[in-house]
Amino acid sequence: MNTAKAIDKILDNVSKKITPTKSEEKQLISIIRLVERSVERSISGLSYTLAGSFTRDTWMKDKKEFDIFIMFPENVTNQELERKGLELGKKIVKDIKGTYKVAYAEHPYTRAKFRGYDVDIVPCYNLSDTSKIKSSVDRTPFHNRYLTKRFTPSLSKQTRLLKQFLKANNLYGSNTKTQGFSGYLCELLIYNYKTFNSLIIQASDWEPGVYIDIEKHHKNRPHYPNPLIVIDPVDPKRNVSAVVSSDNFMKFVSVCKQFKNKPKESLFFKKPVKPKPLKSVLESRKTQFLAIEFKKPDILDDILYPQLRRTAKRLVKLLKDYEFQVMGYDIYANNKCTIMLEMEVWSLPHVRKLHGPPISVKNHSKEFIFKYKKTRLWVEDDSWKAEIKRKYPIAESLLKKTLSQSPASLKEAGIASYVAKSMKNFKILKNSQLASRAKSKDFYEFLINYLENRVVV
Ligand code: CTP
Ligand code: MG
Repeated sequence: MNTAKAIDKILDNVSKKITPTKSEEKQLISIIRLVERSVERSISGLSYTLAGSFTRDTWMKDKKEFDIFIMFPENVTNQELERKGLELGKKIVKDIKGTYKVAYAEHPYTRAKFRGYDVDIVPCYNLSDTSKIKSSVDRTPFHNRYLTKRFTPSLSKQTRLLKQFLKANNLYGSNTKTQGFSGYLCELLIYNYKTFNSLIIQASDWEPGVYIDIEKHHKNRPHYPNPLIVIDPVDPKRNVSAVVSSDNFMKFVSVCKQFKNKPKESLFFKKPVKPKPLKSVLESRKTQFLAIEFKKPDILDDILYPQLRRTAKRLVKLLKDYEFQVMGYDIYANNKCTIMLEMEVWSLPHVRKLHGPPISVKNHSKEFIFKYKKTRLWVEDDSWKAEIKRKYPIAESLLKKTLSQSPASLKEAGIASYVAKSMKNFKILKNSQLASRAKSKDFYEFLINYLENRVVV
């Protein structure tokens, strides 16, 4: 019985569980006020704005974080903005007696820790219109103005439902690890569809190439290579959902279908996982897993994940060039990094057959014969064939040989730079060793995610 009433009941139950309590809200507000007072004391003449989910009342109770943007006039140079931004960040942290580290996005900024909360103190430009944007943080004050004017308590409630639904399905977050939906994207989707349920109903039928232009900025639809295109209401040139991967787009459609077909509360919460050995699961596939494990480079996740993906793709290409077949691949990082390749064909004959020109094409035939005259040479279906010794009959040997090169040679071979520098002492884990890594909950979830069917039709 999927009546509107039954769905409302489910959503109300979820809302009750996920909405911050009055006391949690009071706590956050009091901390924000303390920080704001310090900001006001410190920034002499500059302006600032609170940003992000707090200003729309769409923050989630388990995410103890808020953002303060300090706005600099347009005529300040980039360098000066960075320098002064960090200086003010430090001053504020000292004033509130917090701790901090410098974090990096397009610009460095101060990430403070204060009474259990992460406070991002981000310098940006105070611009009159978005055509003057220099870096993506400059859009944030525009987002703030756009959404705070339009958001209502009902939209906040619906956004929280969406964020929770995405979190439960590993789809929330626009970082390069997740490649999912940002908080701002959630707010825009809800603003566009008004309720969680109407978004879900629409999204169940989404096909790649969904286009949403809330402010109707474009007469003609601009071209973007992404499956989901949501034009930023404050900046017509930006696709807010550019980071959503194709895999995650289809996964989202799939979970929306699941909810539409059978609404239930459990879709909003992760099932507790009990790691169990996956040896027999891996063995029963009769494929070969080759998982390259190496030291994690000391770099930001936002740089690491794209580098791991790029390296994995490069290795897949290399294996294919040597006639091996790759069934699938995935990447993982925790204390160490893993590039996991599942091989469909990992062992090949020691001889390799080459396909030459038709015997009627005389000049090419001559060249072919000259090149391969010392090997086994014959004619098959009117074309020349030759047989040579295969250089790498075993996929694992090809990987070992390739990855044992110096960082400089690895880079030359197309391995991403920080990964290349970290490859020393790499190990290759095969089925049973890989399966034993699944004792850790995190790795177990990674393997299960790779193995499970991700699409419900
Ligand atoms: N932002 C953005 N695009 C992203 C990430 C962030 O435009 N991919 C901008 C938005 O203006 C957003 C602000 O930066 O409101 C703060 O980002 P963040 O704290 O990451 O997200 P929130 O929207 O605050 O959501 P959350 O509840 O997860 O903190
Ligand atoms: Mg935030």
